[in-house]
This record gives sequence, structure tokens and C-alpha cells, in this order.
Amino acid sequence: MVWQKDFELGVEQIDKTHEEFIGLLSIAQNSSKAELTEVFAKIISHTKAHFKSEQEMMQEISLSSQKEHTDEHDKLLFEMDYFSKHPLMLRSYINERLPEWFKLHIATMDAALAAAVKNKNT
Ligand SMILES: [Fe+2]
Repeated sequence: MVWQKDFELGVEQIDKTHEEFIGLLSIAQNSSKAELTEVFAKIISHTKAHFKSEQEMMQEISLSSQKEHTDEHDKLLFEMDYFSKHPLMLRSYINERLPEWFKLHIATMDAALAAAVKNKNT
């Protein structure tokens, strides 16, 4: 998976974090079986910090969909934890499910968050 211009949401902090996430994901997609577990552990810790920072932004602007958005984040972290313990399925998770989740999440929940942040700042 590579970074695409249309992933950009116009809030620097969000875009920067998303770009880093895609960078890690692409390293994982190209890594050997031996490296994969370690790269995935990095993805998990990056994602925890990434979600925490978004949740702080939501809090700051009292985003109305804060609960749904945070629930989505929690579900993904739960899923990542599951796949980190089931390495046989990790490759397909990283190649298929995770990029799909991310694209949809950016286009929906993160887009709404970015729009609300921009709105508050103008
Ligand atoms: Fe998000």
C-alpha cells in the first residue's frame, strides 16, 4: 500500500500520522516471514499513539461522533492484538483487511474529524 494524495484530509497532524502508518504498512507487506512479527509490533504501537492523538483532538472540540469513532479504534486494536497472536493469519490481515479498514476509516470517520477540526480553527 502506498500513500495517495486523496488520503490527505488537510489537518497536518492527522495526515502526517496517516502517512507514517502507510509507510509502516508497506514495510510489513514487503517483509519476510521472520521480520513480520516485529514490524507488526511497531504498527501496533504506532496505531495506539495515532488513535490516542485523534481521540485527544475529538475531546478538544467535543466531537459529537466521539464515541462511535473511539469504538471503531478500540475494535481495530482488539483485532490487531488477536492477529499478533495468530501469526499464520497475519500476512493476509496485513495485505487485505488492514488496508481496506484504513481506507474506509479515513474516508468516513477521520474525514469527519478533520472537517470538524478545520471548522473550529477558522
Ligand atoms: Fe480515526
